[in-house]
Amino acid sequence: MNKKLRNELIYRALKAKETSYSPYSQFRVGSAVLTGDGEIFSGCNVENASYGLAICAERNAVFQAAFAGKRTIAAVAVASDEKGFLTPCGACRQVISEFADGKTEIILVNAGGKSKSVPFEKLFPTPPDLHQLKK
Ligand code: THU
Repeated sequence: MNKKLRNELIYRALKAKETSYSPYSQFRVGSAVLTGDGEIFSGCNVENASYGLAICAERNAVFQAAFAGKRTIAAVAVASDEKGFLTPCGACRQVISEFADGKTEIILVNAGGKSKSVPFEKLFPTPPDLHQLKK
């Protein structure tokens, strides 16, 4: 991915983090998804008084893209307020895998705005083979 697009994706994840609704954990997360056709969709984590109903920023962003009719993911940026690099949880990895391919990149962004890329395949090397369910 070119530098300009990568920076734009990171910026959108950081912007999304600002709208995080996390009054229970105070743990803000923002995410931005780059679709195969070059569009960007973002999302933040949204918590609930019924704690288990919280949705992660990554799934929120992927669902925004899916709702817009997108079916391929080239990259996902994830931004948090942690010093280290937050990686997507297991549930989000499964959801990303629905639209990912061998080239999908995950861009992790820390509190200082530093970033690093990880191939999605490295984070989720053995997804369950459920494609026989597709009709
Ligand atoms: N969270 C995310 O949004 N993304 C992650 O990758 C990990 C966790 C959210 C869920 C919850 O609102 C808060 O962070 C604490 O777990």
